[in-house]
Amino acid sequence: MNTHRKNANAPQPAAIGKDLEKKIRDRTARVGVIGLGYVGLPLTVEMAKSGFQVTGIDIELAKVEAVNAGRSCIVNVPSEILQALVTKGKIKATQSWAAVENLDAVSICVPTSIDGDQTPDLSYVIAAIEAIHNHLHQGQLIILESTIYPSTIRDVAVSILYNKRLQLGKDFFLAYSPERIDAGNKTYIAPNVAKVIGGVTSRCMELATLLYQQFIERIVPVCSPEAAEMVKLIDSTLRSVNLAVANEMALVCDKLGIDVWAVMEMAGQLNEYHMPELAISDVMNALNEKAKSLKGSKILALGVTDKRNVGDISESPAIELMRSLQKKGATVYYSDPHVPFLKIDNRTLTSTEMTPEVLHTMDCVLILTDHSTFNYEMIVANSMLILDKRNALKHFRANNRISSKSPF
Ligand SMILES: NC(=O)c1ccc[n+]([C@@H]2O[C@H](COP(=O)([O-])OP(=O)(O)OC[C@H]3O[C@@H](n4cnc5c(N)ncnc54)[C@H](O)[C@@H]3O)[C@@H](O)[C@H]2O)c1
Repeated sequence: MNTHRKNANAPQPAAIGKDLEKKIRDRTARVGVIGLGYVGLPLTVEMAKSGFQVTGIDIELAKVEAVNAGRSCIVNVPSEILQALVTKGKIKATQSWAAVENLDAVSICVPTSIDGDQTPDLSYVIAAIEAIHNHLHQGQLIILESTIYPSTIRDVAVSILYNKRLQLGKDFFLAYSPERIDAGNKTYIAPNVAKVIGGVTSRCMELATLLYQQFIERIVPVCSPEAAEMVKLIDSTLRSVNLAVANEMALVCDKLGIDVWAVMEMAGQLNEYHMPELAISDVMNALNEKAKSLKGSKILALGVTDKRNVGDISESPAIELMRSLQKKGATVYYSDPHVPFLKIDNRTLTSTEMTPEVLHTMDCVLILTDHSTFNYEMIVANSMLILDKRNALKHFRANNRISSKSPF
């Protein structure tokens, strides 16, 4: 018997899309989010707040247990809100891929890292799409949010999702909607950042747009997944160019003896400062003024992530800086509430608890990320020497509590 023969009673393609459309409009669609991290958890909460029943899927048991207990590890998702939605039965997390079977729509928010030679590593994205493929069914909508390079949707996702019985755009739907917001920011749905959506077919785009319109204010449908992929690439490129310009300006300011932060603020530049080499020479000069050498000094890095209030270290210049400091003979420690441990070459470091006693033992404290949970009063009161690479102490400077000549 041919199990692939069309069932005369099966809904016809247009009706399938209509059924999903109706379920989205009346919020009975069962939606899911794969990857409950900085992007996925806020998305889960927004979907649930708008009335959908949301299933979160994550490979990490600790993440699943935390969500089911209503405990958020993400700064912009308050535990009280998550807890209320879990208690109401609106959010449920699981490690089981079988859950995809019952979902009408799935958003993928798994990580994309960059390997040693700066090539994007799509292995998590591919694993998630393969898992969906194993449970793909008629009427299902898949939206990828993870960062990818242009052509990934058509060249990678579409080929993985190939199914003899189900036709893309008629039987199931696929779109790309890149996460563009700095997830460390306070609000997930920032009104000034449009949510771009590109569907593989026009029906894919319509359905993905309809779903996201239920809980996101500014949606911009674009003509294709490639257009959405290019928007993300342009965002990332502009960010890198801005950083490079800011870094060059920082070098010039340093040479001219000008306060780089004051100038950057006036010029409205990004409040970021990434320059491991410059930071090392700053540490050396500052220690030198205290008649100390870098070799043998104890350095505490405060914050090791690229962005504030998040735990992502994949693009953080702090790791390279700590590695270089170690190579030059310093003993390096770090403290970061979002990164319990990290690996530098073959050495695993664990986050040091920041106390007045610990700060007193350090020759230099290096602020590399301006996490909002750091107790800056305590840092200033107990550190012998501080280098502030994020302008985290600007209020102390503004109040003249720290001289502009101090080695920050
Ligand atoms: N964090 C940001 O500020 C930000 C901003 C823009 C874009 N992005 C992009 O969004 C994506 C997600 O980033 P994030 O910061 O939320 O990452 P994250 O590391 O905070 O969270 C990812 C989650 O996915 C889970 N996971 C990994 N593989 C999985 C799999 N196969 N199945 C199920 N779960 C899996 C992990 O356990 C983790 O909980 C990435 O592509 C990232 O580049 C992130």
